[in-house]
Amino acid sequence: MSIKFDEKNKVFFLNTKNTEYQIKINEYGMLIHSYYGGSVGYTDMSFLIKYLDRGFSSNPFESRGNRGLSADTLPSEYSTYGAADFRVSALMTVAENGSRTCDLRYIGHEITNEKYKIEGLPYVRGEKDKVDTLRIDLLDDHIGIRVSLYYGVFEEKDIITRHTAITNVSDADIYITKAASMCMDIPYGDCDMIHFHGRHAMERLTERTALTHDIHVVGSRRGMSSHHNNPFVIICDRDATEISGNCYGVMLMYSGNHKEEIEVDQANSIRVVSGIGDDDFNWKLAGGGSFDTPEAILAFSAEGLNTLSFLYHRIIRENVCPAAFRDVKRPVLLNNWEGTYFDFDEKKIMEIEDGAAQIGCEMLVLDDGWFGVRNSDNAGLGDWKVNLKKLPGGLKAVADHANSLGMKFGLWFEPEMVNEDSDLYRSHPDWVLMDPGRKPVMGRNQMVLDMSNKEVVDYLFESIKSVLTGANIEYVKWDFNRSMSNVYSKAHSAAEQQEITHRFILGTYDLLTRLTTAFPNVMFEGCAGGGGRFDAGMMFFSPQIWCSDNTDAINRLKIQKGTSYGYPVSTVGSHISASPNHQNGREVPIATRAIVAMSGTFGYELDPAKLTDGEKESIRSQIKAYNRFYELIGKGRYFRLSSERDEAYFSSWEFASEDGKEALVNIVVTDVRANAEVLFVKLHGLRPEAEYTADYVYSSVEELNNKTPDLVCTGASLMNGGLSIGPLYGVYPSIQLHLNEKR
Ligand code: GLA
Repeated sequence: MSIKFDEKNKVFFLNTKNTEYQIKINEYGMLIHSYYGGSVGYTDMSFLIKYLDRGFSSNPFESRGNRGLSADTLPSEYSTYGAADFRVSALMTVAENGSRTCDLRYIGHEITNEKYKIEGLPYVRGEKDKVDTLRIDLLDDHIGIRVSLYYGVFEEKDIITRHTAITNVSDADIYITKAASMCMDIPYGDCDMIHFHGRHAMERLTERTALTHDIHVVGSRRGMSSHHNNPFVIICDRDATEISGNCYGVMLMYSGNHKEEIEVDQANSIRVVSGIGDDDFNWKLAGGGSFDTPEAILAFSAEGLNTLSFLYHRIIRENVCPAAFRDVKRPVLLNNWEGTYFDFDEKKIMEIEDGAAQIGCEMLVLDDGWFGVRNSDNAGLGDWKVNLKKLPGGLKAVADHANSLGMKFGLWFEPEMVNEDSDLYRSHPDWVLMDPGRKPVMGRNQMVLDMSNKEVVDYLFESIKSVLTGANIEYVKWDFNRSMSNVYSKAHSAAEQQEITHRFILGTYDLLTRLTTAFPNVMFEGCAGGGGRFDAGMMFFSPQIWCSDNTDAINRLKIQKGTSYGYPVSTVGSHISASPNHQNGREVPIATRAIVAMSGTFGYELDPAKLTDGEKESIRSQIKAYNRFYELIGKGRYFRLSSERDEAYFSSWEFASEDGKEALVNIVVTDVRANAEVLFVKLHGLRPEAEYTADYVYSSVEELNNKTPDLVCTGASLMNGGLSIGPLYGVYPSIQLHLNEKR
């Protein structure tokens, strides 16, 4: 059992292979976070806590004689508002009489040997792992709120999940104005915070800042997890690197408004609170009612950021993404979007299918524009019926044609949206989020459907179901192309309006659950204008998500690197598009575009008719290579190799197989130089004593291509000494090298 309770000292020990998490109940029943970090062998770490009388830090009434005991200075497992913990609160409530104080005390706990589930929300699945659950119940008996803190302990995978359920045990209504999923206090730390910010077409850029004495807030108020701030933060030692130092990860498994608050308090203690964004949140909990928060995934690494990423990659790949698509080979796809945009008909799509099959693609995805009067992005959303003017044979004809060429067929939807110019809006104007009597703010000339209204969810289920049963559709790309505003639901009362952003996400999860259950063999790919909902919540339904609308390989280096801190390569949708690139006009050689796109779920986003014979030849060999290294890329251990300083010159990353017998090393030069420095990287994950040879080289530099260098090195020499390559010259030169243990 990975969870133990020391009855005498009132300490819970949550142990994974390399980490330990401790919670203590003090003499007043307050729940104290006493430790999270490397294993300490069941030593009660509460000796670290000092009880000092800090001025203006008040004391609970029952301990008023003990001025050293204050909620303001104790490390808390779940902080509340009003009872003199002046730091960030995890829970804020308003009782019927207007009182906002909430003060929780321990009332009981339960330890079970399976992973808990959360009704209506995504969660990390127990699968075949040994997972234990601890539930600790806390009560404020004054207002009648019970809070149950859930901990899922994945012993072998070094992961602890958290989730909180809040129950109104009184007869009166209680309003919850904030309900975070987790709170954790790190008693002392000189730490940095890393978070992943950005914008449309430039998402998840890495930003590392030193924590100072204030509150750092990362979050989204866009109704979606957003391009702008991913719901994932890392707190690490100031000198932590990819290969050394203590690092904590907090990832929220949620696709809507979120907030991560990191506070350094008066005594240098660091508090991390993460959960649903509370800026426009007020949930009425009637007597007997319960509210479930989304789940948070916690990890700790004492060996730097690469190991922290590995823990997240493994748990997301194996326990978050749907199991049905974990071990099956995903098809190399061709998506027509950048090839045609809205300008296509049946003949054109069939030609693209012919071209895609010729170059070796395994699936054709028909993107936006196949339905309603969708000839531009101004009309048609909501009318999920094929446009017979464009596709006279219906979807069946184009799907059958793809199948006849040995390819699968996939289709684009944007379920949660509607255009003003659509039959759906004309017949159901009340199904849109819109303030009464006020014109809505438009985004891409579209409005957001009210997913908190069950009728809307039912309509979408039925209309998508009838499309999916009308042709052999084996893949759905699920898009979401605007931020949410004017959040007002006509299906709910005035008092319930601040529940809508969360109810919306519950409606989306409900629709996804119903569709993925009805169509278990259809793979759903997530998308929100690229990576606007690139989160573990969507990954519960979609094993892959279109990472960014930016397909430029050089910009993608930064986007995919930022994404790699929390999310595995198997979730990263990544395609080769035409050069010059449509988003930024840059020209990049096809080999470099391929090396970058191969670090994801590989595919093409272009019109094959526009390819030269040389490019077609190159694509055939890329697909062959990708399929050869599919397992290594998708399941191998991923290492970021280039340091921040290197990245002014080049980017490098590696995949190493779990047994360390092979590795794929990738280098892309982003700033070519005269009389250049050698490209130097130290590898990871190899077997120290084994000898390796390079048996495959793919490069944008023609002379290097397919010439295997004369290299025989031990794993130890490649890891301790490194690999020196180049210099490489030309336009964004790149090289991919496969190292194999010598037999
Ligand atoms: C979004 C997606 C694109 C494409 C368009 C279609 O921007 O990210 O890949 O599907 O919508 O409108």
